[in-house]
Amino acid sequence: MFDMQGKYVLVAGGSKGLGRELSLALVGRGAHVIVISRSQNALDKIKMDMEAARVHEQQVLSTQSLDLTNSEEVSNFVNGFEKQISALFCTAGGTDEEIGHFTDISATSIQGCMEKNYLTTAYITHAVMKVWKAELELAEEPSRVQQSRHIVFTASTAALVAVPGYAAYSPSKAAIRSLADMLRLESLMYSPAGSIQVHCSFPGTFYTDSFYREQSRKPDLCKELEGTVNDEGGLTAGEVAQRILAGLDAGCYFIPTDLQTRLLLNNMRGPSPRDSPLIDWFMGLAASFIWPFIGTYFDWRVARYGQR
Ligand SMILES: NC(=O)c1ccc[n+]([C@@H]2O[C@H](COP(=O)([O-])OP(=O)(O)OC[C@H]3O[C@@H](n4cnc5c(N)ncnc54)[C@H](OP(=O)(O)O)[C@@H]3O)[C@@H](O)[C@H]2O)c1
Repeated sequence: MFDMQGKYVLVAGGSKGLGRELSLALVGRGAHVIVISRSQNALDKIKMDMEAARVHEQQVLSTQSLDLTNSEEVSNFVNGFEKQISALFCTAGGTDEEIGHFTDISATSIQGCMEKNYLTTAYITHAVMKVWKAELELAEEPSRVQQSRHIVFTASTAALVAVPGYAAYSPSKAAIRSLADMLRLESLMYSPAGSIQVHCSFPGTFYTDSFYREQSRKPDLCKELEGTVNDEGGLTAGEVAQRILAGLDAGCYFIPTDLQTRLLLNNMRGPSPRDSPLIDWFMGLAASFIWPFIGTYFDWRVARYGQR
């Protein structure tokens, strides 16, 4: 069970859409919730909504205006945070302005999309993990150390499949998935085992203001291939938040929020075509038997390295 009762949770990108729904659900679970985003108006609104959802008097519910692409601001905030952070949700991102075929978007969009998705995730995770590492190294009180700390990334189905229109977005979400794999492994260096747990969600389409802005610029081909021609085929942000929390309750590492995404996730070669289909298929089958042994060996080596 993902029990955040009485614990401090940061929701980076939590004033709107999915982050907002997660923040409110976490308030409902009794967590102390700190929502981070830029626009003060949206922060004031989520603060009011969190107050209305509070389940006990002692709950700390606050907001912080911060640009998550500014590594210095982010690091100052995290280092100045006086309570122990138990979970970090990274939900900022999207592609409402950068949608389009690769040759139609600007170089600035390529950079901006990487910043708004990957860097908003990487910078705050970097700052929080450094604090956690120091806590784990210094802690004298075992019970404080043994509490699991969680990082929850938000990737996308677009990280796993190529759909023209997402040329700037898909690579930024694939980078988040790759960072999750890296940090899951590196977190094994820190003792006691399981003290830092990494999770990565892969939502498909869900309806938010950003989604509708994205739709208004999206190439038709993109809508046809992903099945959103009539703005259909999605979930509400609240449903996605509940599915992510259910995945965390079940202790999942990767959390696809629909069947289609689950299938894509398990088709590791993903959108890349096969050069020798039959041989590649056999290779895939063989690798699915062999990799668990190599993966376990990697985990063991990293954990041993941490113990040294
Ligand atoms: N909607 C979909 O169909 C869909 C599908 C798959 C994955 N996703 C992913 O799910 C996540 C949430 O999507 P959403 O539609 O809920 O997005 P959203 O409604 O646009 O909410 C994004 C949140 O992040 C904040 N934010 C954005 N850039 C920030 C920055 N530089 N610094 C601080 N805060 C920042 C926004 O507030 P401010 O703008 O005020 O800062 C807002 O609170 C995104 O990562 C998106 O890529 C969405």
